[in-house]
Amino acid sequence: MAISPPSNRLWWKEPIAKVELIWILIAFVWGLVMFFMMIYWHGAGNQNLSNEAYKITPEAFAEKAQAMTAKYTVREEAGFPVVSPPPGSDVYLIARLWQWWPILELKKDQSYRFHLSSLDWQHGFSLQPTNMNLQVHPGYELVTSMTPNAAGEFSVVCNEFCGIGHHTMVGKIYVKE
Ligand code: CUA
Repeated sequence: MAISPPSNRLWWKEPIAKVELIWILIAFVWGLVMFFMMIYWHGAGNQNLSNEAYKITPEAFAEKAQAMTAKYTVREEAGFPVVSPPPGSDVYLIARLWQWWPILELKKDQSYRFHLSSLDWQHGFSLQPTNMNLQVHPGYELVTSMTPNAAGEFSVVCNEFCGIGHHTMVGKIYVKE
């Protein structure tokens, strides 16, 4: 029993005012527009890559990244190995508090299998200055094919807040002609 029951107990059976109906219709149509924009923008936005995701432990991913680094390191930069894997090969990038490891050096117009995962928190891979964003989760390996189409030095910034060092989490990818 309510303390003050409504006078008309079947309140939901009232006729809907026209203006309310119009708003419901607008909201519904807009919801549909937003839904199909997600699908359209996936292709037209050139922002979110089509990717595959696999379950992996942080330890197993770190092992693969370390194996690649041990094999293809060409020099060091500020304590970071600069790794130049051959075109067509698997390239690994580790996200962790608060760095992207290692530094990659790729060749322009060559394709690579790009693997991304986190060893701890959720991070966000954002390739600057291009508009490319990927969420990086621990426990999941994100794989996508990547063909750099411009030479230069690119920064990788973290775009998911991951704690006190979030703003310092900047990595680097070189693309050579
Ligand atoms: Cu990693 Cu923010």
